[in-house]
Amino acid sequence: MRLWVKHAHQVVRVVSDADPCREYLAGTAQKNCTLAILEEENGNGLSIIVDQDGLIADIGYDDVMELKYKDHIVEQIIDASGRTVLPGLVDAHTHPVWAGDRVHEFSMKLAGATYMDIYEAGGGIHFTVNHTRQATEDELYSLLKQRLMRMLANGTVLVEGKSGYGLDTENEIKMLRVLERAKRELPIDISSTFCGAHAVPKNQTAEEATENVLTQQIPEVMRLQEMGELHVDSIDVFCEKGVFNIDQSRKILEAGRQAGLRLNFHADELTPTCGTEMGASLGAEAMSHLEEISQEGIAAMAVKPSVAVILPTTAYLLRLKPPPVRQMINQGVPVALGSDFNPNAHCLSMPLVMNLACVLFGMTLPEALVAATINAAAALGKQKTHGSLEVGKYGDLLILNAPRWEHLVYQMGDNQQIIGQVIKRGRVVDREVYN
Ligand code: NIG
Ligand code: FE
Repeated sequence: MRLWVKHAHQVVRVVSDADPCREYLAGTAQKNCTLAILEEENGNGLSIIVDQDGLIADIGYDDVMELKYKDHIVEQIIDASGRTVLPGLVDAHTHPVWAGDRVHEFSMKLAGATYMDIYEAGGGIHFTVNHTRQATEDELYSLLKQRLMRMLANGTVLVEGKSGYGLDTENEIKMLRVLERAKRELPIDISSTFCGAHAVPKNQTAEEATENVLTQQIPEVMRLQEMGELHVDSIDVFCEKGVFNIDQSRKILEAGRQAGLRLNFHADELTPTCGTEMGASLGAEAMSHLEEISQEGIAAMAVKPSVAVILPTTAYLLRLKPPPVRQMINQGVPVALGSDFNPNAHCLSMPLVMNLACVLFGMTLPEALVAATINAAAALGKQKTHGSLEVGKYGDLLILNAPRWEHLVYQMGDNQQIIGQVIKRGRVVDREVYN
């Protein structure tokens, strides 16, 4: 055995075999979720054992586990007395590969400039594209590595990462290669998303940019995918008034689907465009933002269902109208969370995202934890390995320096003190090494 965590006061499994659906929680299952919590009883704490492959082998009370495993050789024992164990967090939407921060835009936004004002004036994504195109793969990797390790220190063990600051074949591939290197070298899991349609390059119309994505970028991504050089899971497009319209977005998503990718895209963020209805008609696995989703859009997402990836940092920073999370949950749409880490919304912390989701959008604490674990894993198609503490899943755990898990969200902005250990596949991540 690789790891035995003993004597925990509380173990938050999120889902267990008592739940009718363990792949995601939607509707009343998300709303009434009890998080499958186990608690110390009369001094009998809880144990979790991770096997040599880094998978969870067993979870149970110390007394039972002592009997079962006393003769096994265990590489590492952690005494979690008085502390809480919960699954590593999943961040379902980020743009982590870029050069050139946009700190200067923060004061412009505070002074009243909107996201689209800045974008149309050639700033925003365009600013980042200029800097990212100029950066080498090594430079981008070293920036990415610091960001991912800070995410890990804040409790994220699986992160979705998009390309989208290249906007041409060469630079989009460069970004995807940087993500591949991080998958090989860093102790964090990454689900890559191709987002060549993140913005319309300055010298092109949206039609021309669509054509370029369809005829140049997607074929090259798929060629490298077939050669085993890239492992891209999903395709994304910024479906928005003034960026890619519904028809252009649909074409790009359909081409992605044909190429075998999952559909996971930006819909109904700044203006209502019925992007969500279009995505649902294509069977999109997930859609993000959704501040401007319609009633029909909510109903359409509930059918398959598509996972709603809610991004509180962006709504908070851009002072957008809150997405109708309560209606989504009431109508059976599984709700997940993402940090949306990008140069506009510089947030690497899922506990802060959960706090914002609760305070700004009225989610309950259990709903937010479901959204940042099993439902976020489901948005990425990784619910069989991530998102809950269950036998056979990855031994990706957080040990909190607190007797109840809610401290992670309640004690705002100081995650790294609350999170005592981050464990990836049964091994404690050395956070100092990467600082
Ligand atoms: O999800 N809305 C489009 N994409 C990002 C922002 C990217 C950027 O501004 O660089 C988002 O918020
Ligand atoms: Fe985004």
